Amino acid sequence: MSINVAIDGPAGAGKSTIAKLIAKKMGYIYVDTGAMYRAMALYFIRNGIKPEETQKVSEKCKDADISIAYRDGEQVVLLDDENVNGLIRTEEVGNMASATSANKNVREKLVELQKKLAANADVVMDGRDIGTVVLPNADVKIYLTASSAVRAKRRYDELVAKGEKADLSTIEADIIERDHRDMTREISPLKQADDAVLVDSSYMTIDEVVQTVVDLIKKIK
Ligand code: DC
Repeated sequence: MSINVAIDGPAGAGKSTIAKLIAKKMGYIYVDTGAMYRAMALYFIRNGIKPEETQKVSEKCKDADISIAYRDGEQVVLLDDENVNGLIRTEEVGNMASATSANKNVREKLVELQKKLAANADVVMDGRDIGTVVLPNADVKIYLTASSAVRAKRRYDELVAKGEKADLSTIEADIIERDHRDMTREISPLKQADDAVLVDSSYMTIDEVVQTVVDLIKKIK
């Protein structure tokens, strides 16, 4: 049987950083489900579809060919066979992904792909509904969070390090708005699974968080 580790939590909690390090340490495959919603969002943007055009979103998502490949140990998201990793990390795509990920057809399509990836491999999968919907029988479930102020500061530092302009209070307001949207949507809202372990990373180092999760994995093995 393959080992499945589910990591859910709000934007900016450090899920992907932590999940990648755990995957490396344990020799598992890292699956970034947010990247799939982002690739789908890019597809809508390219096709001139607005987030509020829900009927078009419902229909057009069926034509999007999204798949995952692994190159040099990195997850690559393919949209119609094009590697879109370099195009999906913008605010525009993130906001579109947040809006369109509320759509039932979009979720059904991507959840099916995610389940397939986890069926035959040891994976660390991160997202919003992994422990609740995608992998309800995951061996280890983590709900990773941090205060909105800490998450905003991390994002701010990232942008400043890249030489980009940033405003801390705008970033925090954005984070709070996105949390609200992700937590209150009708289908698969972000919430802690009953059997998930809550990890608040606000005052923890990356190493401490990784070690906490690795210890939990070792317990079940
Ligand atoms: O984790 P991220 O910022 O790359 O995710 C982008 C958007 O996709 C986010 O607003 C919520 C959505 N998402 C989701 O609804 N379910 C997932 N499993 C992963 C992401």
